[in-house]
Amino acid sequence: MNQKSNRDLITEKTPYFMIGDVPIYGDLILAPMDGVTDMPFRSLCRRLGSALTVTEFINAIDVIENHPRYHKRLAFEPDQRPLSLQILGNQPERMLTATMRLVNKIHPDIIDINIGCQSKNVTARGAGAALMKSPKTIARIFQLMTHTFKLPITGKIRLGWDHDHLNYLEIARIIEDNGGAMVAVHGRTRQQAYRGQAQWDPIFEVKQDLRIPVIGNGDVKTIADIQKIKESTGCDAVMIGRAAVSNPWIFSRLDREDVPVEIVKETILNHLDAMLDFYGERGVITFRKFLKAYLRPYDLQSELLLSLLKSKDPEFIKSNLEEIFVKE
Ligand SMILES: Cc1cc2nc3c(=O)[nH]c(=O)nc-3n(C[C@H](O)[C@H](O)[C@H](O)COP(=O)(O)O)c2cc1C
Repeated sequence: MNQKSNRDLITEKTPYFMIGDVPIYGDLILAPMDGVTDMPFRSLCRRLGSALTVTEFINAIDVIENHPRYHKRLAFEPDQRPLSLQILGNQPERMLTATMRLVNKIHPDIIDINIGCQSKNVTARGAGAALMKSPKTIARIFQLMTHTFKLPITGKIRLGWDHDHLNYLEIARIIEDNGGAMVAVHGRTRQQAYRGQAQWDPIFEVKQDLRIPVIGNGDVKTIADIQKIKESTGCDAVMIGRAAVSNPWIFSRLDREDVPVEIVKETILNHLDAMLDFYGERGVITFRKFLKAYLRPYDLQSELLLSLLKSKDPEFIKSNLEEIFVKE
């Protein structure tokens, strides 16, 4: 088992693994999260060691209708490549048209198909995790995409729709057989949403069965978990979602309690500034979920915490943080 830190891996010339012909220099990747993994957070995680940038899902319909809401979701900094563009949809032809437009616009390195989104709005129209119920549609999406683009096409799947329909092996094989270059497996069904414990055994099964790389995902919260999921599944890399929100340093292989307070403070302040640069005034509101997660380990008075989380004034937040961290 490789004992090197992610940082060491990044500076090595040999890639950790390949997604098609795209070299990936590391084994930890920030999972895409709608409404969370925006450009400022993705940049932060990349700087800390996440090896690949994956956009939040881009809804094919938004692209076709040129809805402005998707534009910001595509933003990335040049040093954030490789960039994987995640597409969400239920109609293969429409997904292809949308992807073509985006490929011409931002030139991603990888295209990822969302086969895992659990939200009712999405699954009600047969997209996201509902695609798991329609293997033929998945096959068609991969056929169209792999024949049209020279880029690697990947898929992010769940274990199935529910416990009575655990078809992850079938879907993973379909992806590989239709030219897919990588499969990421979130060890839960759609019915579970984010509840209960993610299962890693199915990820082992998928890894045993496929030749293309397999990424393991679900409930990786600590450095020990990274080691455990790699050992128990043999996965090529690990995707980390929710745990990264309170501990982006996980990509530098640091558990949250091992991050020096001074670094936490500096990161919060820089992250807040990046949010203000990216979103303008409303950045302070969008930042609240991160602030809440960053401050969770500290025993702050509930009144103070609430005033910080309700504030629309970045200066108020900054000056209070200076005080909080002097006391810590
Ligand atoms: C708020 C939220 C939004 C998410 N949005 C996406 C998304 O846009 N695309 C996707 O493939 N998965 C999405 N996911 C699923 C995550 O990528 C990941 O599979 C899941 O959170 C399990 O990993 P974790 O236990 O490390 O969080 C989302 C998850 C959360 C919590």
